Amino acid sequence: MTGTLAQHLAEIAAEMAARSERGRVADYIPELAAVDPDQFGISVCLADGTQLSAGDSATAFSIQSISKVFGLAIALGRLGDQLWTRVRREPSGLAFNSILQLENEGGIPRNPFVNAGAIVTTDAALGKRPPREYLAELLGFVRAAAGADDIHIDRKVARSETETGHRNFAMAHFLKAQGNLTNPPDHVLGAYFHQCAIAMTVEQLARAGRFLAGIQHLIAPERVRRINALMLTCGHYDGSGEFAFRVGLPGKSGVGGGILAIAPGRASVAVWSPGLNAQGNSRLGTEALEMLARRTGWSIF
Ligand code: DON
Repeated sequence: MTGTLAQHLAEIAAEMAARSERGRVADYIPELAAVDPDQFGISVCLADGTQLSAGDSATAFSIQSISKVFGLAIALGRLGDQLWTRVRREPSGLAFNSILQLENEGGIPRNPFVNAGAIVTTDAALGKRPPREYLAELLGFVRAAAGADDIHIDRKVARSETETGHRNFAMAHFLKAQGNLTNPPDHVLGAYFHQCAIAMTVEQLARAGRFLAGIQHLIAPERVRRINALMLTCGHYDGSGEFAFRVGLPGKSGVGGGILAIAPGRASVAVWSPGLNAQGNSRLGTEALEMLARRTGWSIF
């Protein structure tokens, strides 16, 4: 298996390196606009402990919304099912940063992965602590999951988003007005922007996803199942149906161009290519996962 898998990864990386249509790098966070789009990395952790990688697998990138998965694990650990009184579990069918549904739906975001839902989830994970304490717990969780100490928050990226994140400020203030934030909006967003600015390599990210594949035990299996269900239905926003159709695995994307995909019981897979499709998900990352799922038969369907 590992011999063939290594070959698949090498072939996928070679194919992706040759692609001229690579999507558009996110530019609404100025610091991300400067990332070279000609990069691609993939890494796979198998249930037997093997890890195989190809391409730019040791280059750190901004995990952005993939961090919402780790934030959700922490919020569920603190609040348990009470979290679901403040955020729902339905796909939104809208862009990750859409404000449209919030007013119509009483300030209860559709799911923990759209920005509004992640802001509420971050508020829940914060509790009454200063943002610094939450971020230390989050970073500790990610480092433990990845088995790596050299994972950091890129403060330049966090600052860049703080200066330009007006939509998120609008949403946080609206959530506060609706009584769905316990902390001041700037504290919650301070935590949220820094969490999104965690920088990791695909090698580290694939290892950090093992607990979601059930091949490392960090949180209760029942929570793992639920996080995977949300990743499948909501992890790619208005591209979630298309991702499930093409790849058939729970996945979480970020505008830095990373995707964490989970083959339950089998593997944790991380891919990265900075160019995005129209839904803000990695264009080549999605294509690579589609190829990998087809070749390995890992689709859950
Ligand atoms: O809040 C934002 O806009 C970013 N920090 C994260 C968005 C993101 O990664 C959406 N995913 N594709």
